[in-house]
Amino acid sequence: MTPAGSRLRVAVLVSGRGSNLQALLDASANAEYPAEVVVVISDRERAAALDRARAAGVEALVVSPKDFADRETFDLALVRELTARRVGLVCSAGFMRILSSAFTRAFAGRAMNIHPSLLPAFPGLHPHRQALDHGAKVSGATVHFLDEGAVDTGPIILQASVAVQPDDTEDTLSARILTEEHRLYPEAVRLFAEGRLSVVGRRVLVKGDR
Ligand code: GRF
Repeated sequence: MTPAGSRLRVAVLVSGRGSNLQALLDASANAEYPAEVVVVISDRERAAALDRARAAGVEALVVSPKDFADRETFDLALVRELTARRVGLVCSAGFMRILSSAFTRAFAGRAMNIHPSLLPAFPGLHPHRQALDHGAKVSGATVHFLDEGAVDTGPIILQASVAVQPDDTEDTLSARILTEEHRLYPEAVRLFAEGRLSVVGRRVLVKGDR
């Protein structure tokens, strides 16, 4: 939990469009919300998400993998930028890089990701296509803690399900899931900021949840 009166300092990692970033920026624009986005970091210079950050008056930073010899030194540079800004929680939102243990160790229990499927089903790339190809009747969105596993493996914080319609395409399914993502991510960050999440093994317990 953060000291009384101060809000949790949040960084958002992005690579592209940034609609989940926007949901977090919109939530943090409300002074009553217990978290505030203080920096947005992109690995791509042209990410539209950077414009969203600037429009909200939030620092927009590019850390380019081209400037580093390998994954580990890139991840350590990220850690340095985050630490310098006293970030208490990192939210990966459409960040298209796998973070190594150099990062996940530094932010263990303080880094989240959002993925557009009901994990552990359909991790990794093209989850909507995977769900459709598999003939799943239900898919959805998951917010989870980052761990040192492969991709999309950490303890699950919140999930929302979405029915798959027979005529769904990747676009229509992804649009319906995205609506749920935009509700879920700010809620997960709120629970974290309020000190209501604890991790026991693989399970995330939510205080006050019946
Ligand atoms: C979202 O579907 C997110 O779950 C996934 O990548 C997409 C990013 O979209 N990891 P946006 O950049 O937040 O609009």
